[in-house]
This record gives sequence, structure tokens and C-alpha cells, in this order.
Amino acid sequence: MRAVVYKKPFEVAVENVPDPKIKHPNDAIVKITSSCICGSDLHMYEGRTAAKAGIVFGHENMGIVQEAGPAVTSLKRGDRVVMPFNVACGFCKNCRRGFTGFCLTVNPGFAGGAYGYVAMGPWTGGQSEYLQVPFADFNCLPLPAGKDHEADFAMLADIFPTGYHGAELAGVSPGESVAVFGAGPVGLMAAYSCLIRGAAQVFVVDHVKARLDKAKEIGGIPINYDTADPVKQIKEQRHGSGVDKGIDAVGYQATKAGSSAAGGEQDEVPNTVLNQLIDVVNPTGALGIPGLYVPSDPGGVDANASRGALLMNFGRLFEKGLRLGTGQCNVKRYNADLRDLIISGRAKPGFVVSHEVPLDQAPEAYRKFDRREDGYTKVILHP
Ligand SMILES: NC(=O)c1ccc[n+]([C@@H]2O[C@H](COP(=O)([O-])OP(=O)(O)OC[C@H]3O[C@@H](n4cnc5c(N)ncnc54)[C@H](O)[C@@H]3O)[C@@H](O)[C@H]2O)c1
Ligand SMILES: [Zn+2]
Ligand SMILES: [Zn+2]
Repeated sequence: MRAVVYKKPFEVAVENVPDPKIKHPNDAIVKITSSCICGSDLHMYEGRTAAKAGIVFGHENMGIVQEAGPAVTSLKRGDRVVMPFNVACGFCKNCRRGFTGFCLTVNPGFAGGAYGYVAMGPWTGGQSEYLQVPFADFNCLPLPAGKDHEADFAMLADIFPTGYHGAELAGVSPGESVAVFGAGPVGLMAAYSCLIRGAAQVFVVDHVKARLDKAKEIGGIPINYDTADPVKQIKEQRHGSGVDKGIDAVGYQATKAGSSAAGGEQDEVPNTVLNQLIDVVNPTGALGIPGLYVPSDPGGVDANASRGALLMNFGRLFEKGLRLGTGQCNVKRYNADLRDLIISGRAKPGFVVSHEVPLDQAPEAYRKFDRREDGYTKVILHP
């Protein structure tokens, strides 16, 4: 089958790889109809992880069951499904408590597995024609048959639940004010989720115009951090006060004001968003941090950053009595409820999708998404 294969920093290719097979009675093979490119893929694409050449990318996968193993009970050939980016068993200690992003079974020696991602286990990615899905009854979320809402449902594999997770970690409640840093797909979904949860005011910080425009379109208040210090801008609009809650949807590749938006050409300051959140969130508030931080970064700006050790104003965090939550999203905790919001017409997360292209255009789509060119905000590949 054809698949997107990582070659070297800033290069992927669409190549022939072996077709996946049912290896265990609980497996299913899914024929992929939609697989998205994620900001998380860009960390690997830019050579900022330990990912080796040859890995097939793709953790945001949706499609039609092609074949169900003999022990799969809830699915049959022809069913339409979307898979959480987390691969999970459903029965380990963490899965049983809902922490499916930290499954102890699927990636031995590590808590957490995913498709097509470095250090996340042996699971091949879904930017390809077919995907092997283990523990298929647990990992496949059933969708209504047909072609409706394809782009909306594709967002259930990762970014809609992950944005929602950011809001959940920060405990965003009706009437609150929130600052979301990052207007990439995850930041936009976090802002959207805060509004769904009833937030009164949601500031969205970025410097990519097309993305800030999308934030405004959904009812967010865009803040361009190239113009002036974002904390100052938010406090000015709040008549001197900060906000109740904050969300980091940027992660360790945060850049300073005035930096290029293009991957590989940015001036990075990995702790900047964390410290700005500590500044802008009011005492007793909370920070949700779905933005990715890594324990080792081959391109770290200094020796500390290379081992994921960042200087954080912990004293200020303590003084303000702030809480914080981090980590991979446990997609399975939210995806069925968010699916039902889509079906009932209460949520349309597909607004974030800017481009839908065939699989063979993946190399160009990666390049443009990484450079944040031409309004590339979220790309769906259709094999
Ligand atoms: N926790 C999880 O489960 C999970 C899941 C998916 C993605 N992620 C992570 O979430 C982060 C965002 O993902 P994405 O797909 O939206 O990525 P993205 O790269 O498309 O978006 C990041 C955005 O942050 C902006 N940015 C950079 N520096 C900034 C700063 N100082 N202040 C404000 N904005 C800044 C960029 O301009 C960009 O628009 C990534 O780190 C990704 O790995 C985490
Ligand atoms: Zn993703
Ligand atoms: Zn498990």
C-alpha cells in the first residue's frame, strides 16, 4: 500500500510499504478515508525528536472497517469508525481509570502508545491506505454510516478531544475568562471547547494572521504577540485584571515575538508561554497544558532545553495558588460525547480544516503546513 514515510528532517515521501495484517484476534484492519497532519507530526518532521527514517506517520485516523479479527465483537466490515490517536488496551490499571493516553500494555516499558509516533510503540501510522488497529472493540469509535461530517469526525482522533482536554485540565466553567496560547489546530479547538463550556471571554494568542482570523470567526478575541506583550494586551482589555484560566496549546517550540512562523527558521524560547500563563492567570486559577514538552530535544536551544529542563517561575505559581495539568490527551474519555455534539449540530470542529488533499500530495502539504503558508491551518489527507 502507499504510505507517508519520514525520510530526514523536512522531508517525507509517499512510498510502497507492506499491507497491514490481522496479527491478533482482537485486531481490525481499517481502510483509511481521512488521516490528518498534526502539529505533533511537525516535531518529528523538523528533526526535533528521536524519530528515525522509515517511520510511517499518521495518528489522526478515520475510515471503514475492512476486516475484523475473529475475537472482535462490536464491529464488522463496512462500519465507519474514527480511532483515538492513543493506542490503548482497555484493561490495564491506567485504562480502567480512564487514562487511556497512559496505557501500560501497548508500549511495554512506557505509559502510553500511539500510531505513527516516535517512542509510542510499534504501531504503524495511518497516513496510508490501511491501518492495523489493535484491541479494535476498544479503540474504534463507531460513526453514523455515510459521508456526512467527514471533516468534523476526523477531528475526533486528536485535536477536538485534545483542545477539550486543555479546557478540562484548566477546569473552564461557564462565565469564566480564558487565555489560550496558540491558534494552531489544538489552540483553536481549545478556544472552541471553552466557548462550548460557556466561557464568557476567550483570548487567543498567536502571530499567524489566518489562524487569528479563525479564532475571531468562532467568537474568540485575537491577540497578536508580535504587536506587543500578550500578557499586557490581555490585561489592558480586562481593565488591569488577568484571566481565570489559561491554556498552553503551543508547547516547547514556542517562539519569541517577531520570529518567523516557518518551521526551522524560528527563534525559540521554550519556557515563554508557561511563564506568560503564570503571569496572566489570576490567583487561584488553573493552567491546562496540552502543548507538548519533551524530555529530550536534539535541537534544544541550550543544554537544559535539550533535556527538557525549563526555567519556570514556580515561586510565582505557588504564590498565586495556581493549579496545572499536563500530558497526552486521553481521547477516549471525551470522543463519544464530542461525536454526539457533532451529530446534533452543536459542534462543527471541521471549521479548522483549511486543506483536503490526496495522499500523494503529502510532501507539499507537510512543507506548507510547517511553514504556515497559504493559510495552511489543518490538512486532511485522503488516501
Ligand atoms: N497533549 C496532547 O495530547 C497533544 C495532542 C496534539 C497536539 N499536541 C501538541 O499541541 C501543540 C499544538 O499543536 P498544533 O497542531 O496546534 O500545532 P501548530 O504547530 O500547528 O500550532 C502551534 C501554534 O503556536 C503558535 N505559537 C508559537 N509560539 C507562540 C507563542 N510564543 N505564543 C503564542 N503562540 C505561539 C504558532 O504560531 C502556531 O500557530 C503541539 O505542541 C502539539 O505537539 C498535544
Ligand atoms: Zn495529532
Ligand atoms: Zn491499557
